[in-house]
Amino acid sequence: MRKPENPFLISGYHCPDYFCDRKNETTRLLNNIQNGQNVTLTSVRRIGKTGLIKHLFYNLPAEWKGIYVDILATENLQGFLSMLTTAILNAVPEKESLGKKIWTFVKSMRPVISFDPLTNLPQASFELRQVDTEMHISSIMQFLEKQDFNIVIAIDEFQQITRYPEKNIDAWLRSVIQHMINVRFIFAGSQQHIINEMFSLPSGPFYRSTAVLGIDKIDKCEYHNFIAEWFRRKGIGITREIIDDMLLWACLHTYYVQLICNRVFATGQKKINDNIWKEEAYKLLKEQENIFFNYRSMLTNPQWQLLKAVAHEGVVTAPTSKDFIGRYKLGSPSTVLRSLNSLIKNELLYSSFTTDGSVYYSIYDILFRRWTESFPLS
Ligand SMILES: Nc1ncnc2c1ncn2[C@@H]1O[C@H](COP(=O)(O)OP(=O)(O)OP(=O)(O)O)[C@@H](O)[C@H]1O
Ligand SMILES: [Mg+2]
Repeated sequence: MRKPENPFLISGYHCPDYFCDRKNETTRLLNNIQNGQNVTLTSVRRIGKTGLIKHLFYNLPAEWKGIYVDILATENLQGFLSMLTTAILNAVPEKESLGKKIWTFVKSMRPVISFDPLTNLPQASFELRQVDTEMHISSIMQFLEKQDFNIVIAIDEFQQITRYPEKNIDAWLRSVIQHMINVRFIFAGSQQHIINEMFSLPSGPFYRSTAVLGIDKIDKCEYHNFIAEWFRRKGIGITREIIDDMLLWACLHTYYVQLICNRVFATGQKKINDNIWKEEAYKLLKEQENIFFNYRSMLTNPQWQLLKAVAHEGVVTAPTSKDFIGRYKLGSPSTVLRSLNSLIKNELLYSSFTTDGSVYYSIYDILFRRWTESFPLS
């Protein structure tokens, strides 16, 4: 594969050179799947779940095969079957002996196989009734289970199955999966609250069926060194202070760190000073401004005031406390609570836990946070 020109990737995965740290997470994932444990990956958005799965697959031992299925675009079980089959065909080239077997098996299910005009990769699709679709998925699983290879299937954007019109798909899928020994599963999703409900609540269909691995921000020191090393390798001068400032601006949140570094690198400047990186940060906010104005117009005044207050604080642990409400003139605790719930529902705020187990709230989109905090508090 060609090397990326810009070493700070803002989509996809290339190889370990362009991937920062995640050593512990990768070891833990490997350990879980090698010991027969399925895993759920959870984190706030854009921290690096998908990247971690790709990194794990890159590092799988030779006797393992990784199959990555992104089901975000699927709308029903038939779509799921098509994606799964396509992912299997793409994971194992037809030339390999396992590939030959897989192709023969897949063709026996009579899918329509087409080739993507851009990538030339195969795509499978099916037109089936629900019972037949279920049967096909079960038989694919049984087929994989019988192979000499160890297989790990990562299903990304897994929360999507809760939107399928078919009833009880989650319970059915769990029953298919739980009898498998040679095939391991990794589930990941970007809608954390749905994933948590499915896997971590006693009422959830997948409760206790997997090890839940929460992905946090990358270690600051590791990220700092990664960035410094890439600028050095490319012959670009940048001080430790500027890297620290960029990490702070991006709240150490993977995607935003990658984004600002990518833009700074793309300026082509050989020596990065304060003005250069701040100008790039400003441009990033400007590019999104129409979207942000749109968010603002969708919010009620109490919601907007609360959002600004959270942006100014960064992290809020007691949003209904007298102190917080008083400082930002937010009205009554019940108003704040109502606004909080609707901001969470609309994914403008998220809640998570501090290391000592208490809940905190913060803004999802760091660019939105940086833009919002530039508004005066009224
Ligand atoms: N360890 C890493 N080092 C460098 N870049 C990374 C790393 N992990 C992820 N990235 C980059 O950060 C961005 C966001 O990562 P990714 O898409 O994996 O996040 P995600 O948690 O799956 O997001 P979402 O919740 O929206 O699905 C991507 O551009 C990816 O290339
Ligand atoms: Mg993802």
